[in-house]
Amino acid sequence: MRIKNKITDLFKIEHPIIQGGMVWVSGWKLAKAVSENGGLGLIGAGSMKPELLAEHIQKIKQNCQKPFGVNLPLFRGDIEELISVVITESVKIVFTSAGNPGKYTEMFKQKGIKVVHVVANLKQALKAESVYCDAIVAEGVEAGGHNGADEIPLSDLIIQLANEVKIPIIAAGGIVDKHGIEKAISLGASGVQIGTLFAASVESSAHINYKEAIVKAGENDTALFFKSIGLIRAIVNPFVEKAILSEKKNVPQEELVELLGSKREMLGIFNGNLEEGILEAGTGVGKITSVKSVADIFRDLVNDSSKNSLT
Ligand SMILES: Cc1cc2nc3c(=O)[nH]c(=O)nc-3n(C[C@H](O)[C@H](O)[C@H](O)COP(=O)(O)O)c2cc1C
Repeated sequence: MRIKNKITDLFKIEHPIIQGGMVWVSGWKLAKAVSENGGLGLIGAGSMKPELLAEHIQKIKQNCQKPFGVNLPLFRGDIEELISVVITESVKIVFTSAGNPGKYTEMFKQKGIKVVHVVANLKQALKAESVYCDAIVAEGVEAGGHNGADEIPLSDLIIQLANEVKIPIIAAGGIVDKHGIEKAISLGASGVQIGTLFAASVESSAHINYKEAIVKAGENDTALFFKSIGLIRAIVNPFVEKAILSEKKNVPQEELVELLGSKREMLGIFNGNLEEGILEAGTGVGKITSVKSVADIFRDLVNDSSKNSLT
């Protein structure tokens, strides 16, 4: 049995599985692979200049007939240029994150673009609903990358939002297998957004060192750090240990900002520097045991071995 629900209907996709937009990871090749396997692939604009984003959108349009979307982190200084690329290139689906959905959602909707906003608590979810987002991504504390300050576990967040919000909920954080998808759906989500598992795929543009670090990491090998300047979940490495130690010593925020610098994610994820870079990843790393193609990942996620399976 194939799951057909509000999320598959909204995006006209086969499975309610979204590949999260990810800096240094999700270019057009990963998004295409996910969309062609029946999910929804997102190009991550977070690490792209407007011209590069335009190139990636053009490539996916030329090479993939399935729906795809673009993730736009709203805090970007050049967000209006990124938005203008998305509109010029006639992108139909946008996932916004890290900012106020009140500013651009109406304009997107007037242009016929579907808008999903990433939230980490009830207040943000109600805000997204009030400005007519089509759906929300509920991101729990288990998620890789930048994280909500409230540190709410995904299960609690889904249950709370399912009681209070009418628009469909896409669950994100720590989901790496079919059981995680089934659990999220049983708690009230209509779909899932998966990051780390796809970050470690063959089609991800991340460095092989980063993919192998995900494969090697055990379930307790990620940590949350930089609470005072913007929480991040990543694999523990010498840089993260240094960051945690600095926080314990209560060093001033400016020093933390300086320690973080501006290129740590690129260094870790794209350049493969396992000591000094940030290796963003979610708590599901322990269950990721090899670098697989997106087709193989989908086979695992939707196969037919249990009566609740997604296919
Ligand atoms: C390497 C990496 C980069 C990410 N970059 C972004 C981003 O640019 N924008 C965003 O909204 N979320 C970003 N995320 C979060 C993902 O889109 C997704 O919500 C999250 O990874 C889900 O948790 P999981 O990694 O446990 O599956 C990133 C996550 C990772 C692991």
